[in-house]
Amino acid sequence: MKILLVYFSATGNTAFYARSLASAIAGRGHRCDLLDVEKRFDLRAVWHAAPVVPRYMIEAQARIPLETPVGSLVSSENEIKNEALIEAFDKFDRYIANFDIIGFGSPVYFFEPAAVFSSFIKLIPVQTGKKAFTFATHMEGPVWFRKNIREALEARGFRIIGHADDHIIHTELLPVMPKFIAGEGVQKAYLRYRRPRINKKIKAFLDSVNLVKGAAPDQIQPAEAGPVPQMDQLVGGLVEKALYATLKFSMGSRIIKEKCVKCGLCASSCPMKMIRMDADTGYPVRTSHCMYCLRCINICPVEAVSYAPLSDGRARFRGFEKLEAAGRIPAR
Ligand SMILES: Cc1cc2nc3c(=O)[nH]c(=O)nc-3n(C[C@H](O)[C@H](O)[C@H](O)COP(=O)(O)O)c2cc1C
Ligand code: SF4
Ligand code: SF4
Repeated sequence: MKILLVYFSATGNTAFYARSLASAIAGRGHRCDLLDVEKRFDLRAVWHAAPVVPRYMIEAQARIPLETPVGSLVSSENEIKNEALIEAFDKFDRYIANFDIIGFGSPVYFFEPAAVFSSFIKLIPVQTGKKAFTFATHMEGPVWFRKNIREALEARGFRIIGHADDHIIHTELLPVMPKFIAGEGVQKAYLRYRRPRINKKIKAFLDSVNLVKGAAPDQIQPAEAGPVPQMDQLVGGLVEKALYATLKFSMGSRIIKEKCVKCGLCASSCPMKMIRMDADTGYPVRTSHCMYCLRCINICPVEAVSYAPLSDGRARFRGFEKLEAAGRIPAR
């Protein structure tokens, strides 16, 4: 069979998980390709064409105003007027026709898929029962992610066969943790510990959806949507309350000018293009509240982006590709 994994990943966890899934699927004799939506689509245009504004972005805006209110960003361009975007989705539609199953993956942000990934799903041309599964990486759990992404994909005509997810590394907590607790050495050790567990869970997922060696498309059947487990609802509800209570301490990015070397990396790497380089001062300016993917914070070479005073001087997650390139990720 031919399987395609379509994903968004801000700081590398979901990309790593997609690669792990792909290699397990290939190990069962099926072809598995990867598609990072950011490489094929202008994600800012995607977000504008089908804006998804989660509650936390609105709350962050209310508490810490930035120069462009979220509302004004999404009000004017609510349809796909962008020819390039229409062509990109048409091409995507033709491309996925070549595959038997599509896997859709995103990090969990406030129990939902990343806002821009939800926008992306809303724009996919409607399918006629194409089989799909969902996957996620997260911290404590996906909670409502699974149900919500399923419904979003079903609205685009996909039939869901299952869901896989795992915890890789705490990208949300890392930037508020002291380096001696969560620096690169500890990240490496932690990933060494996690890797076999992640692979084991992937194996169980592939078995559960019948994606075994030699399986044919008709052996893979859509699965019923189950309710969100009660324990998840309880924990999710409590964590959500705690997250919103701490929002004013934990959100609202700023640039530490004394540290910034004006390299522009944060602006050029923001998937939502929310950061502009100020023509007069040469410093980056975050224009609006974003999805807090934390890429800018983690990517700045001199740790000049902070998303709260709590994150100043704390650990950063350079992502798998950088850790791998530096030889800091252990071999399987
Ligand atoms: C803004 C934000 C919100 C998050 N919210 C949740 C959450 O509600 N539940 C959860 O389990 N993990 C949450 N996380 C953790 C991420 O889902 C996790 O770090 C993910 O693996 C990051 O994936 P990526 O590296 O592919 O971007 C959140 C992370 C961020 C940055
Ligand atoms: S400004 Fe930073 S945190 Fe916000 S979307 Fe862009 S890279 Fe992510
Ligand atoms: S990545 Fe860091 S150093 Fe470079 S412009 Fe952004 S804040 Fe400044």
